[in-house]
Amino acid sequence: MPRDTDNGEGPQGPKHVAIIMDGNGRWAQARGRPRLFGHHAGARRVREVVEACPDLGIKYLTIFAFSTENWKRTQVEVAGLMSLFRRYITKETRALKERGVRVRFIGDRVRLDPKLIDLMDRLEKETAHNDLVHLTIALNYGGRDEVARATRRLAEDVAAGRLKPEDVDEETLPRYLDTCVLPDPDLVIRTSGEARISNFLLWQSAYSEYEFIDTLWPDFTAAELERLCRNYGRRERRFGAVGS
Ligand code: FPP
Repeated sequence: MPRDTDNGEGPQGPKHVAIIMDGNGRWAQARGRPRLFGHHAGARRVREVVEACPDLGIKYLTIFAFSTENWKRTQVEVAGLMSLFRRYITKETRALKERGVRVRFIGDRVRLDPKLIDLMDRLEKETAHNDLVHLTIALNYGGRDEVARATRRLAEDVAAGRLKPEDVDEETLPRYLDTCVLPDPDLVIRTSGEARISNFLLWQSAYSEYEFIDTLWPDFTAAELERLCRNYGRRERRFGAVGS
């Protein structure tokens, strides 16, 4: 039976962790293997990290799987990643359902293969009743693209008279974002030693804490996630106010 996430690390731990899973290519190259070998190793880490969430009190996990810029990679790598996503969904559906994980996808679906979209839709539907961990997979996602798409829909509502321009504020706009049902991330982690956010959750991470760590994603473990959650618990988040 899935447990509730509200235990152990408790109220001080991050409820929503977002991860930029970087370093798969370098991890593979260091072993003299093709980049896709690293992506496959990275996919296995996703499973370990999702399984660690309940014990760490993480209710929401959002992972950056494919960015709107990743189309610029070689055709072989892009096709290999798309095939990996199809395989991951097919292979993991049962375990995700049984472990109480609700899966959502964010990003623009228009450029994705219809077969992949169908699998994504089905996984979302089949896990829609779960509530232990909310796993959001960002696929063909870019923060600027998301804000642009949201603004387009918002403008349509204004043009149709469903929304008044003077009612557009910080509360209204996020309702149009892909993440509208999710809380903002408390902690954003990027692996592989790069200190950039690369167009990930631009609006949502305005007040997030960041951890940039050297570990390459295929080497990332549940123990490291636990260490980062502890660090987070020691930080004081002020949201622009004066500290206590
Ligand atoms: C960045 O590493 C990683 C990606 C662009 C792909 C992330 C995908 C996975 C971890 C695969 C599995 C995901 C799911 C949801 C099944 P990089 O290739 O940029 O590495 P590099 O910086 O060392 O070249």
